[in-house]
Amino acid sequence: MASVRLERIAKRFDAGGTPAVDGVSLEIADGEFTVIVGPSGCGKTTVLRMIAGLEGPTAGRIFIDGTDVTDLPPRERDIAMVFQNYALYPHLSVRENIGFGLRMRRVDPVDIARRVDRIAESLEIGVLLDRRPAQLSGGQRQRVALARAIVREPAVFLFDEPLSNLDAQVRAQTRGELVRLHRRLGTTMIYVTHDQVEAMTMAQRVAVMHKGRVEQFAPPLDVYRAPSTLFVASFLGSPTINRFAGRVLPDGTSQRFDGGVRLRVEAPLAEVATLAVRPEHLNLVAPTEGSAGEVTLVEPLGPETILHVRLTGGEQATLRLGAGTTPAVGDTVGVSVRATEALVYDARGRLMGRGVA
Ligand SMILES: Nc1ncnc2c1ncn2[C@@H]1O[C@H](COP(=O)(O)OP(=O)(O)OP(=O)(O)O)[C@@H](O)[C@H]1O
Ligand SMILES: [Mg+2]
Repeated sequence: MASVRLERIAKRFDAGGTPAVDGVSLEIADGEFTVIVGPSGCGKTTVLRMIAGLEGPTAGRIFIDGTDVTDLPPRERDIAMVFQNYALYPHLSVRENIGFGLRMRRVDPVDIARRVDRIAESLEIGVLLDRRPAQLSGGQRQRVALARAIVREPAVFLFDEPLSNLDAQVRAQTRGELVRLHRRLGTTMIYVTHDQVEAMTMAQRVAVMHKGRVEQFAPPLDVYRAPSTLFVASFLGSPTINRFAGRVLPDGTSQRFDGGVRLRVEAPLAEVATLAVRPEHLNLVAPTEGSAGEVTLVEPLGPETILHVRLTGGEQATLRLGAGTTPAVGDTVGVSVRATEALVYDARGRLMGRGVA
């Protein structure tokens, strides 16, 4: 088991171009489950490949368990990496595939059999051990690939979108199995995804990347409740967080935002600001009590309903409502902001504070 520390690592693939990774520092504790999340092209895979040693950083250092491994080849790092497309040996059985790495390292066959059985059982592929890869579904194959990495018991696991080829149900199930497996093994795991549900549900801490940088590194609910940048606020959460442009009022203590929203906010105030409010933090009120608008779309999802409203100034607002009666398209409604949940960002997109009740 091991801790992982990244010290301002950077990667530039072509001299003069924009760096793929631009000064990432992370301290991952021994045994921690960390998820790196971010949009396509933000540098997630590149960070993982640098930790594995498959790619050398152009700047910065990488430490595993306190040892500087920046210049060590992959096989001296005691790391296993699982990719989205992980090739299995077609001519070997599932059992032989899983045990392959152990056999190469001349582990005692009795020990191999025991470890393979145990890991196959915890990933629920025990009944498939005598099949060949061609006789498996995509989801089953991916589990075999996971089992093959896990059975080696490395100090650190790196996962690069290992579930993205699976259908929704198998994916949710495998997600749960990985979390349970992590709890049982206690091994350090770094898991890359652009799926925010995976990030929220699996991570002990989540690192949100954007354009080669980490914008926030914190437990998932902290990131959801207090996103440190407007990018993070907009990236996590579905439907997307509502945004209203705003400006300081002369009295200096309150701020007015488009959509007719007026809020007292925590100091300091910027001249230009953005108010960001999650759909569950907008209330439906009488048109005279809040910003008035017209319902443009109603999406009943069962336990909740998503309501889209066009405010009188033309701004869009999205509300998440509980079960119960909801307005219909064309109705005039009022929208009010739950002030203490409202987030205010400065012109550079950094969190300044919240609304005050
Ligand atoms: N070998 C390479 N040569 C040149 N540029 C590369 C190379 N690998 C990655 N890049 C570039 O570096 C940036 C980051 O790529 P990376 O694969 O790390 O993104 P990612 O976050 O994993 O994206 P995705 O979610 O699509 O997998 C991209 O702009 C990509 O085009
Ligand atoms: Mg990638």
